[in-house]
Amino acid sequence: MKILVINGPNLNLLGTREPEIYGTLTLEKINENLAAYAKELGVEIETFQSNIEGEIVDKIQQAKLDGEGCCGIVINPAAYTHTSVAIRDAISAVSLPAVEVHISNIHNREEFRKNSLIAPVCIGQIAGFGQDSYKLALEGLVNYIKNA
Ligand code: DQA
Repeated sequence: MKILVINGPNLNLLGTREPEIYGTLTLEKINENLAAYAKELGVEIETFQSNIEGEIVDKIQQAKLDGEGCCGIVINPAAYTHTSVAIRDAISAVSLPAVEVHISNIHNREEFRKNSLIAPVCIGQIAGFGQDSYKLALEGLVNYIKNA
């Protein structure tokens, strides 16, 4: 089983970006740790990061067209969480189960972060657990797919 893990804008700067909010791990390290966890769960991950909304839309569409057995999506849409109708529509369009992830708890930060345009088209949302948010999301998604 293959799961696509997408990270949106500015997450390529993890490690040095606002470490008091996002921690000190780089995205590369988070992905490496997640790949090891995926192995324990008996699945494989493909990771993708882009700062460009359209590239994220293309990647989501590709996951469906691939025919390579991508079964679901873990996505941290970053700032696009709060603005992107295009990413929301892409997730709806491909009808692959998706879980929204945030490193920080978006519900106890600025008002504008509390609203997600993406969450309503996802099976769930995990926020606030640092890098563990990705692991929790992956585990939840894999269990969901296995029980579907
Ligand atoms: C984030 C939260 C977003 O509000 C923010 O724009 C990000 C990161 C998180 O993982 O906590 O870039 O998605």
